[in-house]
Amino acid sequence: MLMIIFAWLSILPTTLLIPQKLLWVTSTMQSLTIAFLSIAWFFQQDFAFSNHLSLLDNLSGPLAILTSWLLPLTLLASQSKLSKEPLIRQRLFIANLTALQLMTLLTFTASDLMCFFIFFEASLAPTMIIITRWGSQERRLEAGTYLVFYTMAGAAPLISFLAALYSNFGSLSTLLIHLTPTPSLNLNTGLFWAICNMAFLVKMPMYCLHLWLPKAHVEAPIAGSMVLAATMLKLGGYAIMRFSTLLPEPPLTQTPLFIFIAMVGIIATATLCMRQTDLKALIAMSSVSHMNLVIAATLVQTQWSYTGAIVMMIAHGLTSSALFCLANTTYERTNSRTMILLRGAMLILPLTTTWWLMTLLSNMALPPSVNFYAELLIMTSIFNWSTMIFLLATLNLIFTTAYTLYTLWSTQRGQTSSHLKTLFPFQTREHLIMIMHTSPLLLLILNPTLISM
Ligand SMILES: *[C@@H]1O[C@H](CO)[C@@H](O)[C@H](O)[C@H]1NC(C)=O
Repeated sequence: MLMIIFAWLSILPTTLLIPQKLLWVTSTMQSLTIAFLSIAWFFQQDFAFSNHLSLLDNLSGPLAILTSWLLPLTLLASQSKLSKEPLIRQRLFIANLTALQLMTLLTFTASDLMCFFIFFEASLAPTMIIITRWGSQERRLEAGTYLVFYTMAGAAPLISFLAALYSNFGSLSTLLIHLTPTPSLNLNTGLFWAICNMAFLVKMPMYCLHLWLPKAHVEAPIAGSMVLAATMLKLGGYAIMRFSTLLPEPPLTQTPLFIFIAMVGIIATATLCMRQTDLKALIAMSSVSHMNLVIAATLVQTQWSYTGAIVMMIAHGLTSSALFCLANTTYERTNSRTMILLRGAMLILPLTTTWWLMTLLSNMALPPSVNFYAELLIMTSIFNWSTMIFLLATLNLIFTTAYTLYTLWSTQRGQTSSHLKTLFPFQTREHLIMIMHTSPLLLLILNPTLISM
C-alpha cells in the first residue's frame, strides 16, 4: 500500500522537473508501473490487509485496483489534445490529474472514517480545477459550480453524523466499530438512512439529485470524464456499503420510496438516452441509469445484491470510461459531439466499429459479460424483494437495448457522408487505450469471483 502511494507521489516531481520531450512518456510509464503493481493486490488472500491508516478488503480492493488501472489510461487519453498547450499547463494538468486519482485511491482505502471524509471532500478540488480550467467550452464554470454546490450540500449531514458517531464511540476506525454493538440511535427510519447517506446519494447520483452530472461530463476534458465516470461515481456506492454496517439498518418497509425513486430514475434516464443527440450526454445519462440500479441493490441489503453492486461498479467503470474514450476520439477528429455527423463511419473505420460494438454490448449487459453477471445478481435480489419493482427493472432491459441500438445505428451505420472521407484513422495510442479497457472486462468473464464479495 505504502509502496504504491510513494510511487504515485513520485509522479508529481517528475511532472515538474522532466524536460518537455520526455514529459508524457515518463509520466505514462510511471503510471503504467503503478497500474501493474496494483494488480498484486489480487494475490493477497481475500485482500486482507489493514492497519490504522489503510484498509483493503473485498469491498475496497477491486475499486482500488480499478483506480490505479485508470491512471495510465487517463494520461494516454488526454495526450493528443494537451500536447499542443503551453508546457506549464501540461505539467499542471498531469499534477492535478495525479493528485485527483491519488485522493480517490486514498478515499477507497482509508480505514478511518474521518480520513475517508477528508479525502472524499478533497477530491472535489482537483475535479473542479480540471473541469473549469481544461474544459473546452464556455459553460464549464457553471458545471463546476453545480458540481461543488451539490456535493457540499450533501456533505453537511454526513459530517454531523460522523461527529455524533465519534462522541458515542471515541473512535472512527471502521475495524473497531465493527466490533461494537450497533449504535443506540433511536432513529431507525428510512429517512434517517437517506439523510446520512445524502452525500453519497448525490455522488452516485440518485435520480433527482443527478442534475450536476450531465453538465460536468459534457464540459469536462476527456480525462475528467473518465475519472468521473469510472471512479468518482463509485465513491458513493462504496461509501453506502461501507457505512451500512454502522448505520442502524432501516427496516425494508421504510425504504420503498427510495427504491421507487431509483427505479423511476433508471427508466426515465434510459428513455432520455433514446432522444439524445449529444454523444457525451448520452453516455452520462446511461451512467445515471446504471448507478441507480446500484442504489437499488444497496438498499435491498443482501449478500447477493452487494456482490452485484460491486461487480456492477467495476464493470460499469471500465465500460463507461471506454465509451467516453471512443466518443472523445471522434470528437478530436470532427470537433462535434453530435452523433448524426458520424453516420456511416463503419465503412471507413471498421476496427473502430468493432470497439464500439464491444463496449456498447457490454454496456447493454450481453450475457457472457461481467455486466450481465452483475445485472443478474441485482435483478434476482430485487425479485426476491418485490415482484412489482422487479417488473419495473425488466422494463429497463428493453429501454437499454433500445438506446444501445440507437447509438450504434446513429454513429456507425447508414449513408456515409462526404465529410467523413477525410477522417484520420485511429492511432496506435487509441487502440492501446481501448485494449486496456476491454481486456480486463474480457478477462474478468473467466473468473468473476475475483471481484465479488
Ligand atoms: C492544479 O492546477 C492549479 C492551477 O491550474 C495549480 O495552481 C495547482 O497547483 C495544481 N494542483 C496540483 C496538485 O498540482
